Amino acid sequence: MKKDLVILGAQWGDEGKGKVVDLLSAEFDAVVRYQGGSNAGHTVIVGGEKFVLHLLPTGILHQHTIGIVAQGMVVDLELLVDEIEGLEKRGLSVWERIFVSDRVHLVMPYHKVLDSLFERKGKIGTTLRGIGPSYMFKYGRKGIRVCDLEDKDRTYKLMKENLEFVQDLCEKVYCENHSLDLDDMFERTMESYKSIKERVVDTTRWLLKFEGRVLFEGAQGTMLDIDMGTYPYVTSSNASALGLSNGTGLPPKYFSQSDFWAVSKAYTTRVGEGPFPTELTDETGLMLRERGGEYGATTGRPRRCGWLDLVALKHAVEVNGLDGIILTKLDVLDQFKEIKVCVAYEEDGKVFESFPAGLTTLSKVKPVYKSFRGWLKDTRGAKSPSELPENALSYVQFIQDYLGVPVVMLSTGPEREEYFWLCQPAWKEV
Ligand code: GDP
Ligand code: IMO
Ligand code: MG
Repeated sequence: MKKDLVILGAQWGDEGKGKVVDLLSAEFDAVVRYQGGSNAGHTVIVGGEKFVLHLLPTGILHQHTIGIVAQGMVVDLELLVDEIEGLEKRGLSVWERIFVSDRVHLVMPYHKVLDSLFERKGKIGTTLRGIGPSYMFKYGRKGIRVCDLEDKDRTYKLMKENLEFVQDLCEKVYCENHSLDLDDMFERTMESYKSIKERVVDTTRWLLKFEGRVLFEGAQGTMLDIDMGTYPYVTSSNASALGLSNGTGLPPKYFSQSDFWAVSKAYTTRVGEGPFPTELTDETGLMLRERGGEYGATTGRPRRCGWLDLVALKHAVEVNGLDGIILTKLDVLDQFKEIKVCVAYEEDGKVFESFPAGLTTLSKVKPVYKSFRGWLKDTRGAKSPSELPENALSYVQFIQDYLGVPVVMLSTGPEREEYFWLCQPAWKEV
């Protein structure tokens, strides 16, 4: 039985999934993105050269892999073509290794207009990439899918109806005009479709027939999941394991033999609005941001930073059914004299050991911390546990004991080679 692997974000995104998926892809034959869209920014650094992927699966950077853009994604076709061509210009052959699902929904310019308008009231702090509105149209049964583009007349009609609806909304509700041009939008979409058309397939059937090993690359993170995250301060897809089956079009049974791992930083960050119980708005928070280079890979926004939140991480372990955690950015903590981890929340004498659903509760809870002595030594690039200071090992051991699942890998720097295994996965021995 072939072992596939699912890599998810355990926190509020930006955990280092790109770095991890890239290095693991060396051992897989196909890599699949299946939810979200260009709101994702997955960074890979190879020999000092930086790549940031938004729509393509990160594993595409290895020349032997096949990349799949599966049906659960929402895709801005123009951006997808640009991303592929950008990599081709950097010497990677991508066109012949990529497949795009015929069921993928498109992100259209009117979705981006709506994304900005919706941000005016009840701000979420979105990436403004049109993601939420595109999923709204999908679930409202007004979306346009890649397979629809074969029928030009139908596509034109759908675009016209959608554009008129958005223009009406802009004028009548927001008292604004948006001069999006239907013909221009249509032509540009068709132009991008012409480039990608040969690569469009039924990716579900393709995956069902494929005999190689597959890595599924989650975007965003469990705490941004539309159902299991800090709703409404979330993204509009199932970024947890819940999104795998509908995002790929594969039956839940398909994943019964797969390993499920999630990536977590050794501390916590979040971009945009919403509850963040362990957030540090003081010097310590600033130090985490500067040492960690915590600025968004998609929007460049400074990320909010705080201590590791084990209550939230335990929630991720449970809802994803995790087999292991990959811990990144331990090196960022090297210069801290004291390091804290949140082991429970407390509000008015009431202790919460599991992650509450309600926004009101979440905005009031205070973290209960356990404190660790820092190691004050450089761990960047460490290649084995023996190279880690005792205090760093105790920190990792505590996380593992609290969560009840192993930390399988430690990432000790942004470069591809800066990591080591703490437990070898079974498929490494195959
Ligand atoms: P993703 O969205 O989960 O792929 O994460 P991002 O790429 O948005 O952000 C993670 C950032 O951390 C990137 O700049 C990575 O290069 C960097 N990074 C990943 N792992 C490590 C690590 O172990 N140590 C350090 N210092 N940086 C890391
Ligand atoms: P990766 O894959 C971090 C956040 C936005 C905002 C909320 C909703 O790189 O980890 P959206 O544009 O999706 O409607 O925004 O979700 N967000 C992310 N935060 N990493 C991401 O992706 C994110 N994608 C969306 O900042 O708070
Ligand atoms: Mg990111």
